[in-house]
Amino acid sequence: MKIVAGNSNLPLVEAISKELNIPIAKSTIRRFSDMEIFVEIHDNVRGEDVFVIQSTSYPANDNLMELLVVIDALRRGSARRITAVLPYFGYARQDRKPAPRTPISAKLVANMITAAGADRVLTLDLHAGQIQGFFDIPLDNLFAAPVFTRDIKQRLPGENNITVISPDIGGVIRARAVAKRLGADLAIIDKRREKAGVSEVMHIIGEVKNRRCIMIDDIVDSGGTLCNAAVALKGAGALEVYAYITHGVLSGGAVDRIVASPIDSLVVTDSIPATDGVKSAENIIQLSIAPLMAEAIQRISSETSVSSLFD
Ligand code: R5P
Repeated sequence: MKIVAGNSNLPLVEAISKELNIPIAKSTIRRFSDMEIFVEIHDNVRGEDVFVIQSTSYPANDNLMELLVVIDALRRGSARRITAVLPYFGYARQDRKPAPRTPISAKLVANMITAAGADRVLTLDLHAGQIQGFFDIPLDNLFAAPVFTRDIKQRLPGENNITVISPDIGGVIRARAVAKRLGADLAIIDKRREKAGVSEVMHIIGEVKNRRCIMIDDIVDSGGTLCNAAVALKGAGALEVYAYITHGVLSGGAVDRIVASPIDSLVVTDSIPATDGVKSAENIIQLSIAPLMAEAIQRISSETSVSSLFD
């Protein structure tokens, strides 16, 4: 087995390599002066089971292109099997046509990864489960829920006053899975989004008064969904508001917005590397998904069950 790193999330690749006790394959990824990407894999990969780890997070287009070029280099280097490991799958939110004459970019990206030569894909908390069907190659989608549930139980031991919140209708299945693991109640926020990046809370469906509320979502980007929901929850009498979000995209002024919000703490995974702003934010904590991803990589390589990791 070989692990090849893209440049998007080196701390995570290093952590995965440490978990697996396998060094990162030697490679050079550099830019020509017009910013074209050039890749050279220095280790022999002929006949190897290769895992390329790259989050297609900011700058999404550069990181995506880098992934495609690395996969091409591995295919031409006669790797036996190439698994594209995308801890964060960018473009996932463009998974349907919201209006006439708009693209389904998540499908386009799936086609590009397949055309480059990936044999299989490993992701974490895909924005929508159906994106698995955009690929005609096997895809394993991991869930951060077990990691989150463990952390919640450590942070709020013996707590039976918890309501898990889905900050929008689309996230109900994800939030319900965590509520079930915790034996907690579920409430849902009815969110309206008139345009990209701007959201408004309409109603809270469920009981939140005097409860410790834990919001569960896949992505925090502008922070609008989360901060508006936190204000609404506190306004409705919630005692404390926590959030566990898999992918901390945190673009624009998101970090400042979250620091200034009534959110007691926001936990994100390291599917996207923390910026200095995230590291210094008092109410943002990063949890590593390296052990989970490493275990999945090990199981894919040894062709054993990955689904048992969901328990
Ligand atoms: C939406 O369906 C997603 O699950 C997230 O709720 C959304 O992407 C968060 O975006 P923002 O932080 O910009 O409100």
